[in-house]
Amino acid sequence: MSLKGKNILLGVCGSIAAYKIASLIRLLVKAEAEVQVVMTPEATQFITPLTLSTLSKKPVFVDYYDPKTGEWNNHVHLALKADLLLVAPASANTLAKFAHGLCDNLLTACYLSAKCPVYLAPAMDLDMWKHPATRQNIEKLQAHGNVLIPPGEGELASGLVGEGRLAEPEDIFAFLKSSLTVALPLSGKKALVTAGPTYEAIDPVRFIGNHSSGKMGYAIAKALARLGAEVTLISGPTDLATPPSVYRVDVRSAQQMFEAASAHFGDSDIVVMSAAVADYTPQEVADQKIKKKAEDFNITLKKTVDILGTLGQQKTARQTLVGFALETNNELENAQNKLIRKNADFIVLNSMQDKGAGFATDTNKVTVLQKDGKVIPFDLKSKDDVARDICDLIVQHQFRQ
Ligand code: CTP
Repeated sequence: MSLKGKNILLGVCGSIAAYKIASLIRLLVKAEAEVQVVMTPEATQFITPLTLSTLSKKPVFVDYYDPKTGEWNNHVHLALKADLLLVAPASANTLAKFAHGLCDNLLTACYLSAKCPVYLAPAMDLDMWKHPATRQNIEKLQAHGNVLIPPGEGELASGLVGEGRLAEPEDIFAFLKSSLTVALPLSGKKALVTAGPTYEAIDPVRFIGNHSSGKMGYAIAKALARLGAEVTLISGPTDLATPPSVYRVDVRSAQQMFEAASAHFGDSDIVVMSAAVADYTPQEVADQKIKKKAEDFNITLKKTVDILGTLGQQKTARQTLVGFALETNNELENAQNKLIRKNADFIVLNSMQDKGAGFATDTNKVTVLQKDGKVIPFDLKSKDDVARDICDLIVQHQFRQ
């Protein structure tokens, strides 16, 4: 794979190393990449937008709004169009802003809006690079899925010698090229994940819900994206951050989750239904807040659509369908029945009898039941590790022929 035709959003920060970006743009343009430069206001003190726009053959954006043309530089559009965001040089200040979600210029807004892979090539003086605050910010950014293009060692603009020099343009170019060339196991595959609880409205202020945190589903969405899949995450109400490179659709009720999942199902190679969907919903939703009156109060409930079961009946041979089962008794038997009834390829069984498993924890202990009758027990692990185990089985299933 080459860089030809790739949309590269190139963020340039205020650092003396900004002058090296002219050479990097030349290399990228020569490789027929489309380079869109966004500079921080400070970066324009080090290299002119005119130089970078001449080399990239496109206008360079610094502000949200261009007073001369009256045009609005839409950060969401810029970020969504990008195949990758490269920030080089990435200053200590901008890295700190990224790490903490600050959004005070066009580049930081683009970063927060980006769903594509993000590459950061820092440049700063060696003591700034070594400072615990910078170290923590870098760790945080890597945990958010950003890729670090490490700085080199050598003479710095301050006259000091050490680590902190922006990687050379040729090295940044080679780094990007090799990252794009590595074929990930699920590159080109589409995945659909449901996660979190559903809230079934009783009246405008009350609902029937459950304690699902969504952590397991979010971990699976993250793991699938890391393996190269294009992931759509249909999420019930949670307070979790969207994993990097994942497209998230927010829903509340089981019916909304069903509609969103149905819309994406046909396109998906991999479908993981980890949401804790309400099995019943109020037959009628009151328009006004229900006032207390009698001693007893009953709500009539009706069944919700079984999303996994319904979509399971539409499953085609290329699709891998994974369901979850949370059981308190006769675990294996119940899960085996669910596998057959819902036409799933795998059922991930959580037993409420296992310590550290289930809702709201950061760990889980699962047993996976396969369609061919195989039962695979796993140890107690972090939800990220459980997600990786499940994804390994999905990869094997996708490439079983
Ligand atoms: N599920 C779903 N739609 C529903 C209910 C559940 O898609 N309305 C999915 C969940 O996302 C999960 C699996 O089905 O993957 C869990 O099944 P469960 O809720 O236990 O379903 P039931 O078959 O109703 O099981 P039980 O008889 O234990 O209530």
